Amino acid sequence: MKDRQKIALVTGASSGIGEALARELVSRGWQVIGIARSADKLAKLHKELPEAFIPIVCDISKVENITRTSEQLRDKQLCPSLFFLNAGITGDQMIEHENHIDLNLHQQFLQTGYFGALGWVIFWEPVCRGNGGANFVLTSSLNAVLAVPNRAGYCAAKAAISKAFECLSMTYDNTLNRFSIVYPGPTKTPGIRGSYPFTEDRESLARKMIDFAQSKRRRLIPSKFYHYIALPALKLMPEKWVVKIFNSMQRT
Ligand SMILES: NC(=O)c1ccc[n+]([C@@H]2O[C@H](COP(=O)([O-])OP(=O)(O)OC[C@H]3O[C@@H](n4cnc5c(N)ncnc54)[C@H](OP(=O)(O)O)[C@@H]3O)[C@@H](O)[C@H]2O)c1
Repeated sequence: MKDRQKIALVTGASSGIGEALARELVSRGWQVIGIARSADKLAKLHKELPEAFIPIVCDISKVENITRTSEQLRDKQLCPSLFFLNAGITGDQMIEHENHIDLNLHQQFLQTGYFGALGWVIFWEPVCRGNGGANFVLTSSLNAVLAVPNRAGYCAAKAAISKAFECLSMTYDNTLNRFSIVYPGPTKTPGIRGSYPFTEDRESLARKMIDFAQSKRRRLIPSKFYHYIALPALKLMPEKWVVKIFNSMQRT
């Protein structure tokens, strides 16, 4: 396998946090395998970062696509030592309508947000274990720990994959592989809906996520405001207040 120390795989690299992660990793000397469905957006990034960015079109909501892409990478001797499992359903789709629970949408959240992350782990965990180890970093969300109105599918999928990663972190504790979770608060990306206080910019978040990935820590809530003030306060509040607050912020 090629220089494993400096190969990172980023899902959702065509936009938002994933795109910022790809740029920042390249600026730090990494070769980045960027995964997403939008060939045009990946091609644009490739033009900007020609040598270091390998664009791969892959719909991660189908595990067979993850397996096929992974086999192709392994056959080319490209074995990442860092995975940012970041892609997720965002934007208007995140906000569910009152009085209508869409089963199909909930399945999509799980196919992309749960199996779309786990699929990479299933393929690469044994490969990386035999190749010096890797860090699998999940982009979760504060919504994994804080339920909010109109986001049942999003919150549930984030909570499920985060809990799976917590368990994997313990299960593989004695191996060379690590499992880490980032819980971002509101971040300025094309995927955000609504207006929230202390919204972080994606470049600053990407820097924090990469520093974290290279540390020994396993959990990161990047925003001090949401970690120490907003989250504890919201957890203590009556549910009705939380509903009012989030309904007004999601609509602005
Ligand atoms: N922005 C925030 O406030 C915030 C806060 C907490 C957590 N997060 C999490 O951060 C991650 C990135 O979100 P973002 O805000 O950067 O949103 P974004 O700009 O909309 O980016 C989402 C990325 O996911 C990719 N993606 C979605 N479905 C995919 C699929 N089936 N196959 C492959 N790629 C897929 C998209 O690429 P294509 O459309 O090209 O496939 C895109 O690159 C998400 O997991 C989100 O839940 C965001």
